[in-house]
Amino acid sequence: MRLKKKKNNSLALLIFTLLISSCTNKDAMPYKVTFTEHVAPILYKNCTICHRPGGTAHFSLITYSDARSNAASIAYVTKERMMPPWPADPHYTEFVGQRLLSEHDISILQKWVIDSATEGPKDKLVPLPAFPIGSLIGTPDMRIPLQPYLLKPYSSDKFLLIKVPFQFPNDTFAALIEFMPGRNNVVHHVNGDMVKYDFDKKSNVFAGERIVDMVEDSTIILAFQKLGLPNDDGSYPTLQKSVVNYLPGVSGQLYPDGIGGYKLPRKGAFLLNDLHYGFTGKDSLIDSSYINIFFAKTPPGRPLKEFQLGTLGVSPVEPDMFIQPNTLKPVSSRFIVPADISILTINPHMHLLGKSFKAYALKPDGDTIRLISIPRWDFNWQYFYTFKKMVKIPKGSTIVAEGVYDNTKKNINNPFSPPRLVRDQNGSMRSTDEMFQFIISYLPYREGDENISLER
Ligand code: HEC
Repeated sequence: MRLKKKKNNSLALLIFTLLISSCTNKDAMPYKVTFTEHVAPILYKNCTICHRPGGTAHFSLITYSDARSNAASIAYVTKERMMPPWPADPHYTEFVGQRLLSEHDISILQKWVIDSATEGPKDKLVPLPAFPIGSLIGTPDMRIPLQPYLLKPYSSDKFLLIKVPFQFPNDTFAALIEFMPGRNNVVHHVNGDMVKYDFDKKSNVFAGERIVDMVEDSTIILAFQKLGLPNDDGSYPTLQKSVVNYLPGVSGQLYPDGIGGYKLPRKGAFLLNDLHYGFTGKDSLIDSSYINIFFAKTPPGRPLKEFQLGTLGVSPVEPDMFIQPNTLKPVSSRFIVPADISILTINPHMHLLGKSFKAYALKPDGDTIRLISIPRWDFNWQYFYTFKKMVKIPKGSTIVAEGVYDNTKKNINNPFSPPRLVRDQNGSMRSTDEMFQFIISYLPYREGDENISLER
């Protein structure tokens, strides 16, 4: 009897403390976790940008029934930190727009499942955030559609060279050029350059074909001719590399005014080098992707520059890129920086055998500047990571990129069973060939760069 009473008291005390603390401390664990009160705010802030109709993911997490039918897997993927997708280790370096749940958010999602994943009071549901329509950045000033492309059933690994011509009344400036996939679950990646014509040398930028299949048309010169890229006299216009890139889950980066951006010629074309379509299912699909342009008021003051370590880059991969079956293979690439630079954005790149990736710079005085660590490589989430503030790398520093490949059958992404020798093939983008690249966007260093915030 006495004992029971005491227990009741302490229970009452516990509930009382929980109530008090849940009123005063936002990090306290609610007595009962419900969808409307606790779960929806986490999902809306961290997940529905992709998990909504028309988002990158196949299923939505907007309504109670959406979330309830995925409750157990939500708890699992968040606890394992597989979702939201953010492969970079936040304890090593932090980046703009990093997608991370707090420990508290993760515990809430776990407890929701333990508490029977109930809905909670309907009137407590927070409003759904307004999603950008047709862009991950905002409202573009102009949209240029690609020619729609028909993907046949069960097609895999299509690599297309696509021309997206344009003509403007005057020279203009773009702050950002964004690629938006039509079928975002089959478009794997895009790497796009800009063709810039001298106005008088090209009569019609719209002539020629728009799409060439790189497997059928093996030589690039033939492909360029089919697309009608040369000037009227057969010479070639100038090409500006990497102005429009797309990888799953990546939104383009708008830098502060005066940094980055592009001059758009009156006559030109975007040349999407290797629009890569992954596997399609049993139905044929039409992909209608497009390009968004965000104009800039002023010319780019400090245009970005770019170089890459590794495959096709400024420094070789060592010891080599022959990845023998049933082995773990470490590789690295090292580059000595010839002048002071300010790094803005980095992009590690490997394919399906990637296991981990790390990059840092060794200063001449021996100090280390951390760049990125990806302990668990994920082929699907290859972001362009932008630092919160520019990172100064002094002249004479060595940038080191290190990767490990897993060519064993334990690697569930291994494209071959049993494992086979995999190598790089002249920068082949095919996901069954390998690559090792560390791509760096930078500016020549200026005093004070390291204090410039890149967050918008
Ligand atoms: C950047 C986009 C993006 C964000 C943000 C995101 N997801 Fe995902 N999620 C995906 C994609 C893509 C998949 C792969 C499946 C697909 O294509 O539908 C996926 C898969 C999943 C799966 C299924 C995993 C499996 O193996 O079956 C769950 C569960 C999930 N996400 C939950 C979440 C939760 C919870 C959040 C927020 C905390 C979140 N996701 C944030 C894009 C995203």
